[in-house]
Amino acid sequence: MDWIRDADIDPAALSGKRVAIIGYGNQGRAQALNLRDSGAEVAIGLREGSASQAEAEREQLTVLSLAAAAAWADVTMMLAPDEHHAAIYGEIAQSLREGSALGFSHGLSVRFGLISPRYDLDVFLIAPKGPGTALRSLYLDGKGMIAAWAVAQDASGRARDIALAYGGAIGSGRAGLIATSFAEEAEADLFNEQAVVWGAVPELLIAGYETLVDGGCSPELAYLECVGELKLLADLIEARGIAGMREAISNTAELGALLGGRRIVDNGVRQRMADILAEVRAGKFAAALTAEAGAGYPALNAERRENLSSEIENTRRRLKPAS
Ligand SMILES: NC(=O)c1ccc[n+]([C@@H]2O[C@H](COP(=O)([O-])OP(=O)(O)OC[C@H]3O[C@@H](n4cnc5c(N)ncnc54)[C@H](OP(=O)(O)O)[C@@H]3O)[C@@H](O)[C@H]2O)c1
Repeated sequence: MDWIRDADIDPAALSGKRVAIIGYGNQGRAQALNLRDSGAEVAIGLREGSASQAEAEREQLTVLSLAAAAAWADVTMMLAPDEHHAAIYGEIAQSLREGSALGFSHGLSVRFGLISPRYDLDVFLIAPKGPGTALRSLYLDGKGMIAAWAVAQDASGRARDIALAYGGAIGSGRAGLIATSFAEEAEADLFNEQAVVWGAVPELLIAGYETLVDGGCSPELAYLECVGELKLLADLIEARGIAGMREAISNTAELGALLGGRRIVDNGVRQRMADILAEVRAGKFAAALTAEAGAGYPALNAERRENLSSEIENTRRRLKPAS
């Protein structure tokens, strides 16, 4: 697997080009500010009456309408929520300059056909592997965040150079850019969200907490055991890998992990993971996301309300009253 770093990137592919960032949220703000600090000419494209406008203007960024931003730019980066890409593309498709580039930070909307970019456009992916707040703070510290890159359409013959120059300008060339495709990035990201880090891990923490409490343990100790130690685990894995993490813990913890881990994550879990991957690839999740957004996010809103008033959250508040 080849990593691309700043030394391999020709920043000239972006020099003199105007970059419009569509959306000024988690990724939009960070990418816009990093690009500007790297010398790019940046403007923000927002819908009329956008709540984000004041914040972008506080940073002295020019704010344009969606269509005006697309008409102004040589590179238009789609950094609004994935489920709105289709509607936004519909609004800007006629305005995008012929032969310009259209970028994404997640492959979902192109992979699952929510949008079909015009054939004259370069279409690229620069997907930082972490949140915008960290992308910005790493950049300010002289570091960068790993990102995946891909090209879906190379109309100009320069799409790869533009993508890599963009990745360099947001700071990711300092850490490394890894080659992928829109399909691979979208499928792996959606799989992980459901089956591993963001879906399964929190449910495992809650199930462990509830098992201990049902077994007579105090909620506070159950929380500290099952949830509080996650950061220690994450830091150890980040610093030393899974093998190094196991070396760093006590023999007691290591033997416990050996005896218990594979009883919990058994072949049934692996089969359901495979089922989720197949469903993601078949477009089931993309359809669910579009339907959820179209209905005004009823499932997400109900879940957020329920989470906030849950027993495990009450325990967390008792342990950390200030947070
Ligand atoms: N969040 C992450 O950590 C992360 C990491 C890697 C990749 N990504 C990808 O980056 C992209 C952006 O994600 P994000 O989390 O940064 O999004 P986000 O923070 O939710 O984006 C919010 C911004 O999008 C604008 N927006 C929302 N709906 C809009 C609409 N219908 N029309 C026009 N503008 C609209 C909002 O403007 P208003 O103020 O008008 O609502 C706001 O400026 C996605 O493709 C995502 O998958 C995200």
